[in-house]
Amino acid sequence: MMRLMTIVAGMALLVPAAHAEPSSAVAFDVPTVKLIKAGDPEKGEALAKEGKCAKCHGDAGISDDPDDVNIAGLSASYFYKQLIDYQDKKRDDRDMYKRVKNLTAQQMADLAAWYASLEPPRSAGKPMTDQVRKLVLHGDPERLLKACAACHGRDGRGGQFDHPALAGQNKVYLVDMMTYFKDGDRENDIYSRMRVVSEALTEEEIEALADYYAADLPEEE
Ligand code: HEC
Ligand code: HEC
Repeated sequence: MMRLMTIVAGMALLVPAAHAEPSSAVAFDVPTVKLIKAGDPEKGEALAKEGKCAKCHGDAGISDDPDDVNIAGLSASYFYKQLIDYQDKKRDDRDMYKRVKNLTAQQMADLAAWYASLEPPRSAGKPMTDQVRKLVLHGDPERLLKACAACHGRDGRGGQFDHPALAGQNKVYLVDMMTYFKDGDRENDIYSRMRVVSEALTEEEIEALADYYAADLPEEE
């Protein structure tokens, strides 16, 4: 018994401290993918009413306030992961934590199925500047910067699993998120994929990219 305890204690010391905190508890393994696929959009719709999600995200998941976040049409897998991350405080936001803290994994899958079934927001469809085209379609090998399109899709409509759609999102939110990743204020991206990208971007590039992907909204000022 004593020997076993010594071995266990010894093993604990071998775990490198830097990896003690995974960025997310979600892994897209078979049980998780099955749970997300089995999400019930009708139950999700009822849960959205109960949770008053429309107050901040608009009736159909699209808000007319440019400071809010559009959530309609996000893939169920990305959506589900975010709710779990808010619940675990891997993604830190007080408003969202309050909304999800008492939900079960099944209920979060139901909400994800409901919002994934809704029409996504429209992007303003701005033409690409040369700077934006390079970053979106080619990246910058000198900075080891991968093309946004490789993970978020050529049209910004998102990719598999945890790669969110960007097209039609509100500009303020897009700038905030890239800045949070850059500064390490958002750290729930598995393998630091989005932190690595954001660290390589300048503020001016972040602004230009957000402008390109942004929702169609009346001009401010
Ligand atoms: C009081 C306002 C408020 C309410 C109510 C609210 N949210 Fe949110 N939601 C936010 C804010 C603010 C953010 C962005 C926070 C951040 O910086 O991470 C957000 C982010 C999200 C995101 C992440 C979007 C993305 O692109 O990553 C999802 C998904 C989401 N909310 C779903 C919901 C659902 C489902 C409900 C109802 C159960 C809900 N929200 C209710 C304010 C709210
Ligand atoms: C290697 C893959 C990869 C590349 C390349 C990449 N991203 Fe991401 N991005 C991600 C992942 C993964 C997430 C979601 C992380 C999470 O919450 O799980 C994300 C999230 C985001 C978000 C937050 C979206 C939301 O709804 O909260 C923005 C904005 C974003 N990326 C913009 C960009 C832009 C602009 C580029 C090109 C300069 C880019 N990304 C390149 C993987 C990538």
